[in-house]
Amino acid sequence: MARINEHYAKLPASYLFPEIGRRVRAYSAAHPDARVIRLGIGDVTEPLAPAIVDAMHAAVDEMGRRETFHGYGPEQGYDFLVEAIREHDYKARGVDIAADEIFVSDGSKCDSGNVQEIFALAARIAVTDPVYPVYVDSNVMAGRTGAAGVDGRYPGLTYLVGTEANGFQPEPPIASPLGRADPGSPPPAATDQRPAPPPSLEPVDVVYLCSPNNPTGTVATRAQLERWVAWARANDAIILFDAAYESYISDPALPRSIYEIDGARSCALELRSFSKRAGFTGVRCAFMVVPKDVTGVGAEGKRVALNALWARRHTTKFNGASYVVQQGAAAAYSAAGLAQTNAQIAFYMENARLLREGLGPLGFTIFGGVHAPYLWLRTRDNLTSWQFFDALLDRAQVVGTPGSGFGPAGEGYFRLSAFNSRANIEEAIARIRNAFG
Ligand code: MLT
Repeated sequence: MARINEHYAKLPASYLFPEIGRRVRAYSAAHPDARVIRLGIGDVTEPLAPAIVDAMHAAVDEMGRRETFHGYGPEQGYDFLVEAIREHDYKARGVDIAADEIFVSDGSKCDSGNVQEIFALAARIAVTDPVYPVYVDSNVMAGRTGAAGVDGRYPGLTYLVGTEANGFQPEPPIASPLGRADPGSPPPAATDQRPAPPPSLEPVDVVYLCSPNNPTGTVATRAQLERWVAWARANDAIILFDAAYESYISDPALPRSIYEIDGARSCALELRSFSKRAGFTGVRCAFMVVPKDVTGVGAEGKRVALNALWARRHTTKFNGASYVVQQGAAAAYSAAGLAQTNAQIAFYMENARLLREGLGPLGFTIFGGVHAPYLWLRTRDNLTSWQFFDALLDRAQVVGTPGSGFGPAGEGYFRLSAFNSRANIEEAIARIRNAFG
């Protein structure tokens, strides 16, 4: 008799985005003439940049010739890609990351779900709320939590609540060694005057941070990240920093990597992805940085380098991203690749600007959408997130993502993705204006 992993029973029946897909399919079946515009899942719509396509074609040709064929590659990634990452993502920003600290993979979703494996089941994990659901669900699957409470939260996880008052950037769990809130980063103008929740007092070993943030589209300032790094160092904790959307930051004062913060090399892992920066959602390539200075505690208090643990895990359970895909990813760093992918990012961010400026006058309070391809709206008329989802679908045939799908603190909010064609974005704005104006 094969007993199943009963921790799965604690999860909602389906993951957030398949659930949205199911509801949209049901709506479309009932309204076959409706042309639904999807601003729900953050999936890119622009085709791959020509420089990437050329590189992948050339790589396929290599694979088709005996002399240039590639079988299994190095599990951590080909040198040509690892060196491009070191150079462009890190050296250019004054950060030195060694080649063997970079682990190329097939996606940040997988990396962020898998990384929890190298920590003890007893490790106390903190997530923000709202949060990218993978961080929570993968820890539930691993058995770090009890069953969800009536508030939707899992006992065993620490939730750091993001609100309008803290700009959806919660403070570290206990009083940070650097103390007070960052005066340089006031939260966006808001009409919700409730005070920010006090920092959690629960002890935490590992925290997931995502900046630019999915789902709220807000970005952590340098001062905020400095407080996180100071907190992690003072508390022997580890930051899992998800920077999948870093290329959407346009303000040079905002950090794109946690390693731009002094001291982060000893307490932070960083996740990066080609999905949103180079249109790789359907191609799959990402990487995780695990500096050799980051350690956890093993038997009898012995310090153990997480780099060694992750290398063991990665080489055991993963055989490397494909050669063709890695050639495509490396081409994103060529002069032409950078110019073309930066133009795509600018295109999506213009969509975000149009959405912000088109929907703001309708009375929606909007966050994000300035350094991230996501807009986070407070729903109108006191609708819950799912009620607003239904209203938007029914009245405008536009799909978004209910904020409550990202955690209880997302209730009353709604996420719109800026990934779509210009025509669809303009049409969506016009329809929403008609329906809610
Ligand atoms: C999202 O919509 O949140 C993202 O597309 C999900 C992901 O990147 O896995």
